[in-house]
Amino acid sequence: MTKKIQKAFVVYCSPAGTTRHVSRTIVRKLQEMKIEVIECDLSKKFSETAIISKINRVKNNACLFVGSPVYVSHAIPPVMNFIARLPKNSQMPVVPFVTWGGATSGIALYEMGKALAEKNMNVVGGAKILARHSMMWQMENPLGKNHPDETDDQMIRKMITGILDKLSAGGNGSIDLSALAYYPADIMAEMEKTTLKKAKSLMPKRRIDEDACTECKECSSTCPTDAISFTPYPEFEKNCIFCFNCVRLCPEDAIKADFSKVEKRIRARAEQFMETPPSQIFI
Ligand SMILES: Cc1cc2nc3c(=O)[nH]c(=O)nc-3n(C[C@H](O)[C@H](O)[C@H](O)COP(=O)(O)O)c2cc1C
Repeated sequence: MTKKIQKAFVVYCSPAGTTRHVSRTIVRKLQEMKIEVIECDLSKKFSETAIISKINRVKNNACLFVGSPVYVSHAIPPVMNFIARLPKNSQMPVVPFVTWGGATSGIALYEMGKALAEKNMNVVGGAKILARHSMMWQMENPLGKNHPDETDDQMIRKMITGILDKLSAGGNGSIDLSALAYYPADIMAEMEKTTLKKAKSLMPKRRIDEDACTECKECSSTCPTDAISFTPYPEFEKNCIFCFNCVRLCPEDAIKADFSKVEKRIRARAEQFMETPPSQIFI
């Protein structure tokens, strides 16, 4: 049976914009191939429920792309929560993709693929793309510097044509999920235990410079999980994912954090794993 894809959903969360860049590359390629695309940024309020009901309504000939950055070796909570809310039994072709910052892409892609397969979706492809490490924006030599580059973008475009070709050639196009589990089992087991929640105590502490803060609320409007309240200065709630957009984007530089300790840990992790290839597609 041939399956010509006519509609695609591209859903992502991207605090620092790299996963969005990859998503846009996917969107442009799909549109070039005359496919109708519905894009959804999970950090925008109300968009998640709307996209889930659209995915629910579509019956055939649609494909879903889901993108997440890698945080502490995992996909981030807004993306995993979105996957958890997807309807079951759709048999829809689905493609998880991650961007990672040169330390380790961890088990993010595998856990997304597994969660999507548990929804009875057909995982027909996947990608991990190297990106500038989003905790290293102040550093001269960040891991993943200058990525994603044109070669990464080309890889993404190649993944799209590969997936669409195999779907229109017949079959369900599923990949073997074990391909996404590219670390040895013992390392994967260790990564599974190290969650973002557990790593919270290792994250740089934020300090508010109350003299500099103008209570403009820019930090909360750029927070992807709506985790900032005001008393009257910013306070960080439990659902904070430590993207540090608040520190990076504060127009008054009023939210401070010292990244020197975490930098050492990130670079040590990169040395430990020497993960290669940096970017890879699975079709
Ligand atoms: C809290 C936090 C944890 C991160 N953990 C990892 C990690 O475990 N491995 C890695 O290679 N990059 C890690 N990164 C870097 C991001 O995965 C990478 O920069 C990604 O491209 C960011 O995506 P975005 O630009 O869409 O937000 C982390 C970044 C943050 C803020």
